[in-house]
Amino acid sequence: MCPAHIVGWGMYVPERVMTNDELARTMDTTDEWIRTRTGIEERRIAGDGETTSSMATQAAWRALEVAGLRPSQVDLIIVATATPDYVFPATACLVQDALGAGNAAAFDLSAGCTGFVYALGVAVDMVAARDGPGQTPTALVIGAETLSRITDWNDRATCVLFGDGAGAVVVQANGSPGGVLSTFLGSDGSGGDLLYLPGGGSEEPASHRTVSERRHYVRMRGREVFRFAARAMPDAAHRALEQAGLAAADVALVIPHQANQRILEAAARMLNLPPERIYSNLQRYGNTSAASIPIALCEAVEEGLIQRDAVVVCVGFGAGLTWGATALRWSVPLPAAPPAWWERARYPLWQGYAAIRSVARRLMWWLLGRSVKD
Ligand code: UT7
Repeated sequence: MCPAHIVGWGMYVPERVMTNDELARTMDTTDEWIRTRTGIEERRIAGDGETTSSMATQAAWRALEVAGLRPSQVDLIIVATATPDYVFPATACLVQDALGAGNAAAFDLSAGCTGFVYALGVAVDMVAARDGPGQTPTALVIGAETLSRITDWNDRATCVLFGDGAGAVVVQANGSPGGVLSTFLGSDGSGGDLLYLPGGGSEEPASHRTVSERRHYVRMRGREVFRFAARAMPDAAHRALEQAGLAAADVALVIPHQANQRILEAAARMLNLPPERIYSNLQRYGNTSAASIPIALCEAVEEGLIQRDAVVVCVGFGAGLTWGATALRWSVPLPAAPPAWWERARYPLWQGYAAIRSVARRLMWWLLGRSVKD
């Protein structure tokens, strides 16, 4: 099996910014409480018409552009999300259609805020297993969330935490050394009700009662999740590093799930790393669940914090309970050479093609339905 590499990255966040002060005007909270307890200053909120799939698609186009690939070269799309557009079809299938990625398998992955790390691990194994002479298996791994739609805006203990957005990476097994070195994944379902969405599933199907009791919104026991996270993140990072034959001292940058600045500081202490080696952007986006690690990865790359051959650890924890970490050796030269104008110009054309392809295929399904004789 050939190592898999991250060869493209992209992110999308909605334009609308919601500050702590804005929240404090509508509920019993303060900017000071939110900043000191979480580190969050503002978050992005999806606009009308924006969905998990639309944000995932924007992030995916950007990642493909960085990788210099066209959608037809993608073999696999995984969307990690707790806020899919629908229970089914999978959000990944909606992204596949929106990209016009006609050769891709597509599925969603549910592992809470650890979803991106899980999806990256699955994609790495799938592209590495498909590697063969003359082949460059390629996967799009996306973390995307519209948490504002499952947030109880009357519950100050949770609504101040979350935000919307999407991040994507392109993973390729291309024969070069480095890339993803190891993945560690963990789970403990006994903590499932520490962070969950009770209504709308097979246990509590949607009803007047589930709606009136606000059971379609996130419920969380914050203190328990905090304590779990402070142990699980360093533990997962250590295990992934151990599998890769590395130590914490070898790590150039940790890209952690962005949940709470105090959790990140506790993780830094337990890993014996200085705080500047733990990337943080949660002050601007809050907790975007499965989207937080790929968004943070994109921003760390853009800020020049990741160099070629640097060891990077992505580490997360979340609903499930789940936790996990990936250790990788960054193999793409940075800063990436800006693409020529004609390379950039191809993407609007492919976007136009994808839109026409989608309409044509819907027309085909419609015609197929009409042509069936009783
Ligand atoms: O992606 C995984 C998702 N979840 C997490 O990572 C969450 C992990 N947990 C946390 O980050 C923290 O537990 C929170 C930020 C959620 C809460 O911080 P805390 O320091 O654990 O606060 P607490 O729950 O112990 O509450 C302390 C007080 C309570 O008041 P009393 O009972 O002491 O009078 C809360 O009612 O703070 C109160 N409180 C607030 N006050 C002002 C809770 N939320 C707010 C608020 N504004 N927004």
